[in-house]
Amino acid sequence: MWLPPNNVRHPIPDVRWPTAEEAAAARWFSPVALGPIVLEERTWVPAMVPWRATEEGFVTEEVLGWYERFARGRPGAIVVEATGVRDIPSGPLLRIGHDRFLPGLTQLVETVRRASGGHSRLLIQLIDFLAIKRRPEKEKYLRRFLAVTDRHRAALAGVAKTDDEVRERLLALPEAELEAVLTPRELESLRFGFRERVTDIERPNIRELPRVLPDIFAAATARAEKAGFDGVELHYAHAYTMASFLSALNDRPDGYGGPREHRVRLPLEVYRAARAAAGRKFAVGCRFLSDEVIPGGSHVEDATWFGVEFAKAGMDFLSLSRGGKFEDAKQPQVGWAAYPYTGESGYECMPTVYSDPRGPFGRNVPFAAPIRRAIRDAGLKTPVVVSGGIYGFEQAEGILARGEADVVAAARQSLADPDWFRKVRLGRGAEVRRCVFTNYCEGLDEKHKQVTCKLWDRAGLDEPGLKRTTDGKRRLVAPPWEAAAPAAGGLADGTDLPTT
Ligand SMILES: Cc1cc2nc3c(=O)[nH]c(=O)nc-3n(C[C@H](O)[C@H](O)[C@H](O)COP(=O)(O)O)c2cc1C
Ligand code: SF4
Repeated sequence: MWLPPNNVRHPIPDVRWPTAEEAAAARWFSPVALGPIVLEERTWVPAMVPWRATEEGFVTEEVLGWYERFARGRPGAIVVEATGVRDIPSGPLLRIGHDRFLPGLTQLVETVRRASGGHSRLLIQLIDFLAIKRRPEKEKYLRRFLAVTDRHRAALAGVAKTDDEVRERLLALPEAELEAVLTPRELESLRFGFRERVTDIERPNIRELPRVLPDIFAAATARAEKAGFDGVELHYAHAYTMASFLSALNDRPDGYGGPREHRVRLPLEVYRAARAAAGRKFAVGCRFLSDEVIPGGSHVEDATWFGVEFAKAGMDFLSLSRGGKFEDAKQPQVGWAAYPYTGESGYECMPTVYSDPRGPFGRNVPFAAPIRRAIRDAGLKTPVVVSGGIYGFEQAEGILARGEADVVAAARQSLADPDWFRKVRLGRGAEVRRCVFTNYCEGLDEKHKQVTCKLWDRAGLDEPGLKRTTDGKRRLVAPPWEAAAPAAGGLADGTDLPTT
């Protein structure tokens, strides 16, 4: 994982937790409308892929368990992990690209409704992504994958005639000479693994993206509504297709790249198609980047402009993230694919306590605030969701009081303690298990291992019937909150004690 130069370890800030009365009067626990739906409170669990679906993308018991656990904390909203919109194999990533996924997704909705007592609204994040290959062995790449071109032949003129001879010569070249013969893209494919880009318009599937994606996202949106979700979050963030259209690196010459007016075109077309496929009571919003954090990428000025365009188009919410790109990802080992959270942009997406003087806490807020301000200045009320290093009540209240965002989301803190919103609401913040922001969970995500939190995944492993990770070493969900009930059998919010 990339770390800021001269980083220092920041302590987890001291916090003051509110009483139940204070919490009841707090902004964070007050309702907010996302277009046609209302969140009971402005607390939010953003999308987190836990690698628990089947290889075919179906919901499993483990997926249900993951969301059930978050639902017990009754946040205002939970966003289900990035879920593939196409009907193509994508490993153990949830999918919504065909009606056969509906029964599992419906069960997921029912599970969350039940576990949250109907209090949490449930959105699902819809993702499209392009092909990415594992880093090949050098011999394999030069002997099999590289398409021999006139450039290679010209560079080796006089020493190699046939394609096979060219390949063998390339293999024998010292690294510096090989660098001069291969194109930057070929070198990237050799050193990182081949990665498709939205700008590869010589490839028919890439050229056709603007033609096919609106319908694909629309069909997925209709399915999400059919399964019972309250809305969709179109994934326009991080390293994936739609974010790449918004990126300043997108120079497609077909009216979908270049100036920002062109880069926003497909995201707006996808949104309009999704909106048209949804009923009037269904929320449609997106997650996008307030800053790509890569050289040549879009920064907050572009993001502010995009935010206003999305709001004008009628999106029901805008959730902001930062970074998480392939462009600055670390070179993977041979046999592994690049992971978009290993460079500086990845750091900004999930910052740790090993940080620069700004520290990891609320690090994205200064980027979200101007976007929200511009939306308000345009006379629009679209709620803005911020996340990144959120750890406490007063921090969240301050963000809302200063008008920097409308909803304050926490991913890792909610993983560390899925009951934390509820504990705070009940005036029992002292019982919150606090995230230490060192990214053990993100390390598991990188290896596509079932995601758990180091603060609880070895606790109570001898409990009878406990569900464990496939390696048998960790528990899959946080232990129950052993709450002492104020009155026999129930908590102050009128519900039973947690039982699992
Ligand atoms: C294990 C893990 C999986 C994640 N998966 C997603 C995802 O599917 N979609 C997404 O937009 N963000 C994803 N994120 C990023 C989080 O939603 C969030 O933006 C980030 O962790 C920063 O917020 P935090 O500081 O509250 O953790 C993931 C984060 C983690 C730790
Ligand atoms: S593993 Fe570490 S960073 Fe991740 S949720 Fe747990 S304490 Fe936080």
